[in-house]
Amino acid sequence: MAILAPSILSADFLNLGDNIRKLENAGIEMLHIDIMDGHFVPNLTFGPALVEYVRRFTRLKLDVHLMMTNPQDYIDEFCDVGADYITVHQEACMHLDRVISLIKKRGAKAGVALNPATPPSTLQYVLDDVDIVLVMSVNPGFGGQKFIERMLFKVAELDRLRGDKYGYQIEVDGGINNKNVKSLVESGADIIVAGTAVFRGDIIENCKKIGAIIK
Ligand code: DX5
Ligand code: ZN
Repeated sequence: MAILAPSILSADFLNLGDNIRKLENAGIEMLHIDIMDGHFVPNLTFGPALVEYVRRFTRLKLDVHLMMTNPQDYIDEFCDVGADYITVHQEACMHLDRVISLIKKRGAKAGVALNPATPPSTLQYVLDDVDIVLVMSVNPGFGGQKFIERMLFKVAELDRLRGDKYGYQIEVDGGINNKNVKSLVESGADIIVAGTAVFRGDIIENCKKIGAIIK
């Protein structure tokens, strides 16, 4: 059993409020917000101001994915505007242990994301402290890319690794659709991020279809 966290990167920005209400009506519990800085990834998206507006508008859990260099400089700001979960990239943190502590000290849940080429073993000494491990199943930067099949092995590896020892949840992000989502949940994924598959076409129908597969 897993949950769906729609990524607003693929939403209709001029009708974001309407799109979010549809997600609520479809029973969604968590919203994924992709912050891109044009350095860590070759694209620019939103900043804390958007998170603040979304926070005021909805009670959905806000899952903020920081695809940026020096994420430590923005943890306070994203916590101040109401992020529930903050995920930083392993590849972007010289002092990952410190950044995780900072997030948790602010009362948010801490996630660490792994690019497709980064192995779970890089997290060995922080796994006790993280709430989420986010497996990127595309190279981060854009919505609508093709799912990298090999990432199923990474999800399964993280599932094996946690056994009874760790409490982290496994989140997967990128290229997920009706067809590949089942194998991800079977491999151990708990949180499924989807942009294109949710926002292209009928939002409520799409959420229900994916929801039925992952429940
Ligand atoms: C990729 C982002 C994803 C993206 C997923 O860089 O982190 O969250 O929005 O979008 P789809 O589902 O279209 O691949
Ligand atoms: Zn993301």
